[in-house]
Amino acid sequence: MSKNKNLYIETYGCQMNFSDSEIVSSIMLENDFRITDDITNADTIFINTCSIRENAEQRVRKRLKELNAQKRKNPNLKIGVLGCMAERLKDKLLEEELIIDLIAGPDSYRDLPKLINTVEAGQKAANVILSEEETYANINPVRISTNGVSAFISIMRGCQNYCSYCVVPYTRGKERSRDPESIVNEAQQLFDDGYREVTLLGQNVNSYRWENEYKLNFAGLLEKVALVNPLLRVRFATSHPKDISDELLKIIAKYENICNSIHLPIQSGSTKILKLMNRKYTREWYMNRIEAIKKIIPGCTISTDIISGFCTETEDDHQETLSIMNEVEYYYAFMFKYSERPGTMAAKKLKDDVPKETKSHRLKEIIDIQQKLSHQSNLNDLGKTFNVLIEGTSKKSDQELFGRNSENKVCVFPKENFKPGDYVKVKITKCTTATLIGESVGG
Ligand code: 5AD
Ligand code: SF4
Repeated sequence: MSKNKNLYIETYGCQMNFSDSEIVSSIMLENDFRITDDITNADTIFINTCSIRENAEQRVRKRLKELNAQKRKNPNLKIGVLGCMAERLKDKLLEEELIIDLIAGPDSYRDLPKLINTVEAGQKAANVILSEEETYANINPVRISTNGVSAFISIMRGCQNYCSYCVVPYTRGKERSRDPESIVNEAQQLFDDGYREVTLLGQNVNSYRWENEYKLNFAGLLEKVALVNPLLRVRFATSHPKDISDELLKIIAKYENICNSIHLPIQSGSTKILKLMNRKYTREWYMNRIEAIKKIIPGCTISTDIISGFCTETEDDHQETLSIMNEVEYYYAFMFKYSERPGTMAAKKLKDDVPKETKSHRLKEIIDIQQKLSHQSNLNDLGKTFNVLIEGTSKKSDQELFGRNSENKVCVFPKENFKPGDYVKVKITKCTTATLIGESVGG
């Protein structure tokens, strides 16, 4: 038996993965493990991995090499690899990385205690079976490294959009939505515990669909969560442009506590490339949704994901990406070079034919434009007053606090007598590219 063992969890990749690590922690705590934040103290180390780009996997490979030294010092140390890399590579990972004792895919975390028992009996253990039902609905996640103010709630799992570049449908399986009642209860519990912000998470949150004893779409779910308490802010990520309906935008506009910030990955500004990516929308369709956001939720900030150098991308296609960035005026963007992933449609059918240097050069141009847009967006906020939810002490000075406004921008201001979890009105006086700086004008 594994009584009172110390478990250390390291997480790579997306917010979903961080949320999954909280689910894993909860399962392990129920099974006589303690969670430690001191790796040198660990009896078991779990690495929750990401496969989205090749370099995400390389980072994990490098980390496993580093952990070799620790295992040499403590031969009883058990190493488990969880998440997307475990799912993608399956037994091959156990063969390639001898240090690993256990692998578990994203749908097999309930099986972890059993897998650990197998490992303790001297064997390697694996479960990479994907499920069409698992949503971990009844598991109460343990909030690890929390600020006590904001928390993630996973509302759906999997993805079946099959964007041609993306490994996620293969590593996280079919789309499935979690019971709305369990989501609302979790939000209520978090509020009662003092949290003031929840982020509803899923690979495609806005394709959320509950079709059992009653029907509920994402707009309906968002409204239910917003009604938990007006002091509980609600955010969500990530949305697919195909499901950003006017109905959803109107719900966001209707409730003060649903934040005015939407993450809407564009990936490319060229309709030709979007078609090859199997994104299911054109540039014009996407712009129509942006116009709807700007009309229905004035002041709403919009962020995005962009991939540079996808298969067959020409200079003209690239210019279309730059021009759509300027048209939308994103306040923030995650920007990547295309990385071919084995098993995807693009890997099977398209040639990764944009030279590395061209990808880098184009990415740099994309980043430069985004820097300007982010700065301009912040400059436009000078003199405005925002309701800021305080998250903690500023990294730069313990005399200053930081929090976010509804538009998801970080605001820094003098501490006075405020504390994390408070709402405070902040008037913006200065800014950098990444931060708004101001002073409180009353709570
Ligand atoms: N190469 C580069 N970026 C990718 N993304 C997904 N797959 C790839 C890939 N193969 C990016 C997309 C997605 C974000 C989470 O990661 O922009 O929205
Ligand atoms: Fe990485 Fe995608 Fe898996 Fe998240 S779902 S961990 S981004 S591969």
